[in-house]
Amino acid sequence: MLGLRRPGAIGVKAVGPFDLGRLTRLHRSCFEDSWSRSDLAHLLALPGGFGLIARLQDGGLASLEALRGAGFSLCRVVRDESELLSIGVAPGFRRRGVATSLLRASMRRCHEWGAGVMFLEVAVDNVSAQRLYKVHGFEQVGRRPDYYQRANGERVSAYTMRCDLTQHLPAWIDDRDMA
Ligand SMILES: CC(C)(COP(=O)(O)OP(=O)(O)OC[C@H]1O[C@@H](n2cnc3c(N)ncnc32)[C@H](O)[C@@H]1OP(=O)(O)O)[C@@H](O)C(=O)NCCC(=O)NCCS
Repeated sequence: MLGLRRPGAIGVKAVGPFDLGRLTRLHRSCFEDSWSRSDLAHLLALPGGFGLIARLQDGGLASLEALRGAGFSLCRVVRDESELLSIGVAPGFRRRGVATSLLRASMRRCHEWGAGVMFLEVAVDNVSAQRLYKVHGFEQVGRRPDYYQRANGERVSAYTMRCDLTQHLPAWIDDRDMA
């Protein structure tokens, strides 16, 4: 599926009022403790809150689904700080650069809205997400014990990670990251 990594194969757009159902389904496909439609609507309505949806322009067999939405990110900007609240890619569309496009577009938009840094939390056992963040300049700055609770009741700690957007925002972001 290398072809999907070619420039322009992934489009990223801001979540609009008609995307709420899709966003809710995408979130559910990525997380055990998924957020409800009203949770997501509330979050998007907060000052500085926004969501992005990524679409694969060339999704092969699953093309219609992929065109409608393969992944999402949710962020909030408060003054000069921002937070990546959630990011996920539907299981069938992973390892094609979708999260990379979403993260880059999220970082760029937060910076445009005035943020100099971005924070996030990631479960200590979520090695794939940690790898994605490290590649994009995030560093571990703290640890939150028992931060998440899994469906089986198990509690999992989280790392807090931070990225200096003014340093890491980048040459590699260009207009193709945001449709
Ligand atoms: C983490 C997640 C968002 C990655 O999405 P993705 O679209 O597959 O990521 P990308 O294809 O852009 O991968 C970018 C890089 O992340 C790392 N990565 C992603 N998935 C990985 C995996 N399964 N194993 C190891 N590294 C992985 C790699 O460094 C990868 O670069 P490479 O493919 O060139 O090696 C996706 O697996 C997901 O939705 N997981 C469930 C939800 C979740 O954990 N969200 C993060 C919460 S903090």
